[in-house]
Amino acid sequence: MAEAKGIAIIGGTGNQGFGLALRWAKAGQRILIGSRDRAKAQAAAERVKTAVGSSHVEGLENAEASAKTNLVVLTVPFAAQVGILKSLRESFKPGDMLVDVTVPLEIALGGRATRVLGVWAGSAAEQAVELVPKTVRVVSAFHNVSAVVLQDLKHAVDCDVIVCGDDPEAKQVVRSLIEYLPGAGYVDGGPIENSRTVEALTALLASINIRYKTQRAGIRVTGLPSVSG
Ligand SMILES: NC(=O)c1ccc[n+]([C@@H]2O[C@H](COP(=O)([O-])OP(=O)(O)OC[C@H]3O[C@@H](n4cnc5c(N)ncnc54)[C@H](OP(=O)(O)O)[C@@H]3O)[C@@H](O)[C@H]2O)c1
Repeated sequence: MAEAKGIAIIGGTGNQGFGLALRWAKAGQRILIGSRDRAKAQAAAERVKTAVGSSHVEGLENAEASAKTNLVVLTVPFAAQVGILKSLRESFKPGDMLVDVTVPLEIALGGRATRVLGVWAGSAAEQAVELVPKTVRVVSAFHNVSAVVLQDLKHAVDCDVIVCGDDPEAKQVVRSLIEYLPGAGYVDGGPIENSRTVEALTALLASINIRYKTQRAGIRVTGLPSVSG
């Protein structure tokens, strides 16, 4: 799936999306960087090309990027999630996948990165489910991976990625995206409602980062058999 049409990263000009773009472009994937501003997307695409020597990276407006592929990754601040997903609604096709990376941190409203906001739907991911057409399969992932770690191509991504969603096939597609990140591990986090817990962990990691004066805290789940669902 990812190989066929490429990976659209909505908000790929920002910290987390740019880090994922770098890693996936380096792994040979076709990347469509989305932005509200095409020139900004194109500039980010050029930076990715220069950094990893890939020619399969382009910059587009968000809805154009989403329309061009069947695999869309959303990396925007929580405060922008509803508006951006509404703006993408017409660009989705039946069977498309949305990988939601949004964390509802208080900082999105001017508060602290160490606190999670209450979301009426339960989590940012469940809010995304309510905003996209019913034919779009939503998976949540990459909440606990630091953007600084992603952008540091000299080092492996020493972190597990907990993936939540209700469509087993879609989760396997995300598993393949995780396999493009050297060092990162896939963990099946269960149904989309479990994203509530995974998203909240990011606030804890932000707090740990402050105490340890780093920006690289991540998580590892231990005790699992080597082959997991
Ligand atoms: N940074 C991390 O380490 C990290 C780790 C895990 C999860 N996350 C989550 O990933 C998401 C993105 O985080 P980030 O740090 O990459 O955010 P960011 O750099 O602040 O923003 C990402 C992009 O979102 C776009 N955007 C769309 N609407 C926006 C608005 N109203 N205000 C500001 N930007 C807007 C911007 O792209 P254009 O201007 O080009 O449209 C921006 O470059 C967040 O939900 C965050 O909680 C981040």
